[in-house]
Amino acid sequence: MAKTKTTYFCRECGAEYSKWMGKCNACGQWNTIHEEVIHIENSKTSLPKGINQSQRKPQLIHELEAGSQPRLNMQNEELNRVLGGGLVQGSLVLVGGEPGIGKSTLLLQIAIRLKGKKVLYVSGEESEQQIRMRAERIGIQNQNCYILSETRSEAIFLHLSQMEVDLLVIDSIQTLQTERIDSTAGSISQIRECTAELLRYAKSSDVPVFIVGHITKDGTLAGPKVLEHMVDTVLQFEGDRNYGYRILRSLKNRFGSTSELGIYEMQNNGMREVSNPSEILISQRDEDSSGVAIAATMEGGRPMLIEVQALVSSAVYGTPQRSATGFDTRRLNMLLAVLEKKAGFKLATKDVFLNIAGGIRVDDPAIDLAVACAILSSNYDLPLGDKICFAAEVGLTGEIRNVNHAEQRIREAEKLGFEKIYLSKFSLKGVQNQTGNLSVKGYSHIEQLFKSVFGGK
Ligand code: TYD
Ligand code: MG
Repeated sequence: MAKTKTTYFCRECGAEYSKWMGKCNACGQWNTIHEEVIHIENSKTSLPKGINQSQRKPQLIHELEAGSQPRLNMQNEELNRVLGGGLVQGSLVLVGGEPGIGKSTLLLQIAIRLKGKKVLYVSGEESEQQIRMRAERIGIQNQNCYILSETRSEAIFLHLSQMEVDLLVIDSIQTLQTERIDSTAGSISQIRECTAELLRYAKSSDVPVFIVGHITKDGTLAGPKVLEHMVDTVLQFEGDRNYGYRILRSLKNRFGSTSELGIYEMQNNGMREVSNPSEILISQRDEDSSGVAIAATMEGGRPMLIEVQALVSSAVYGTPQRSATGFDTRRLNMLLAVLEKKAGFKLATKDVFLNIAGGIRVDDPAIDLAVACAILSSNYDLPLGDKICFAAEVGLTGEIRNVNHAEQRIREAEKLGFEKIYLSKFSLKGVQNQTGNLSVKGYSHIEQLFKSVFGGK
């Protein structure tokens, strides 16, 4: 007979308690512990059919075969890049993102375009007919892609025991349910158990598995943090829904770097890979307008020129408004304070709005200088022109700080036909003052730089 057990889980970190508490001792969060009733089958250890329980033996490390792990080419350059050069066999990859951002579209696209591989795409959210309609929009190229609309994990593993696949996609982990635990789909115990089963399947069969995970309103993956600990790779799909651009970021990767990102554009027939991001992130303008500055940023190993737009106007209310999309508002406030204190610009009574073109979020600190220049350009109504770009971090004392990969940024700016790039003085070592049409300027303090940029105007 099945035992019934009431357990309390922390929604944040997944810690388990025997009684309710106001604060989770494990992660320190308040009000995150909730009750779940679990029926555990007596045969707790019996795994669903399809998971191979063969035992592995301990092996001597020096006798193990060296060399890199075999990787599956996803036939999608951006995804290969984010995964660190293809998908490692037997790895478990979690793809998170807000609803409607395009997780299902991207993974279905991968599944139906992966030529020469047998793929099983399991959806707990859509019927086979709905998936077929979506697949027709994208274009089916893989003759060996199977679709299954199912939420019971036992049924999925039963099918997997009867067919050998090269790739498994689960959309989504929140809809999956295992009979071994009697709580509702999407509850923490179900998510944890189903992920554990998938993990065992992936490791025992060497089949790579993608799982889609939903994201809650505050931007964390729904379900406990343990989910992120269990999987090998966590990818996050982000972007502004009003724009077509989507960024696939790697937040954790046991088999590659986490600084890489992939860029896509959502189109009518699926996701287009964007291999040259600079061209889309600089908006087309007819004339010079003030409040626009271009930053030479690096995302992952890739240089990317991005347009920063600022609008500075007199505050209507007593407290000025500061708002930023794609940029940290606290960092914006800090830059405004530096401009006020160290460079003598009076911005305390001004509203400041900031926008990064394309609706993307930038992490690179090298965007600071472009943000500062865009703000001043808007404040004084002095256009900077579209042939100048910036790449430096701004420190609290107003110093212009060095950023890494200066040379790559310079090369990208030159390639795109810029005439001037402003950097930190300390980035100039080993860099020519003039490369082609591009002249390279280095400064150590914002005051001197502003004189050079705005002085002549
Ligand atoms: P979807 O992949 O269902 O999002 P998620 O699985 O992350 O919730 O994306 C749905 C949106 O994508 C929907 O608004 C329609 C749009 N879409 C396109 O723009 N082009 C396409 O080719 C497809 C299939 C969907
Ligand atoms: Mg979906």
